[in-house]
Amino acid sequence: MRAFKAWTSLGTLLLRESGLARLLYALRARRGYFGDAADWNAEYAVGKWRFLNDLDQACHYQAIALYRARLKPQGSLLDIGCGEGVLHRVLQMPPTARYVGIDPSVTAIASAEAAATGTAQFYVATAENFMPNERFDVIVFNEVLYYCVDPVATVRKFASHLAPGGIFIVSMALCGLRDGLTKLSVWDAIERDATVKAEIALIAQTAGWIVKVLTPVTAAVPKETPAPRQRALVPA
Ligand SMILES: C[S@@+](CC[C@H](N)C(=O)[O-])C[C@H]1O[C@@H](n2cnc3c(N)ncnc32)[C@H](O)[C@@H]1O
Repeated sequence: MRAFKAWTSLGTLLLRESGLARLLYALRARRGYFGDAADWNAEYAVGKWRFLNDLDQACHYQAIALYRARLKPQGSLLDIGCGEGVLHRVLQMPPTARYVGIDPSVTAIASAEAAATGTAQFYVATAENFMPNERFDVIVFNEVLYYCVDPVATVRKFASHLAPGGIFIVSMALCGLRDGLTKLSVWDAIERDATVKAEIALIAQTAGWIVKVLTPVTAAVPKETPAPRQRALVPA
């Protein structure tokens, strides 16, 4: 089963490269991954997400850490949907570096806080209701964007909370063909407003991941230029 998932993830990547994915989007059955804070609390309470600490998962956290270290080594970082703070531990930021993690699950935030070092700050909040009064050099969406009600609107909102020259780092797992197609549709939508500065595709035993560094396209659009095409990500 594990090998099957990894191979179908690879298959998804190949489909995407061939352009066939666009045709198959219409067939995907899995639409949206919503859950409220109570669902997330219950899942964290029974340890459902503990596997995120497993070796097999390490590669996408390390990819994020690598991009941060290369592109914004001294920069502040906002980790949206930080869960139990796995990324914060992997990042090993200097104790004084600015790290803020948010997550709707009070259970996850409590365990992130318990394990945290340095000056890290954690808040119980969703991407939708969090309004930071500061700008960050790096904003991370690590396995969270596809849980947001409107991923495109979420990325747009946080573009205004990036410091000048700031970057988004986004990771999305591809767990099989159907899931992969859903995620690829999210990539497709958010990249209409962004420039991809770097990207990597990772295949492990249980899943595959795509991790990208994006910068928002913020240049003023001349009046005669048509607005970029918009497409609903998740039908009601
Ligand atoms: C798969 S877990 C990933 C956790 C963490 N980013 C990591 O990779 O270790 C998804 C996380 O997204 C959070 N989440 C779900 N909906 C969210 C939303 N609308 N805004 C912010 N976080 C959300 C969940 O509470 C959960 O902790």
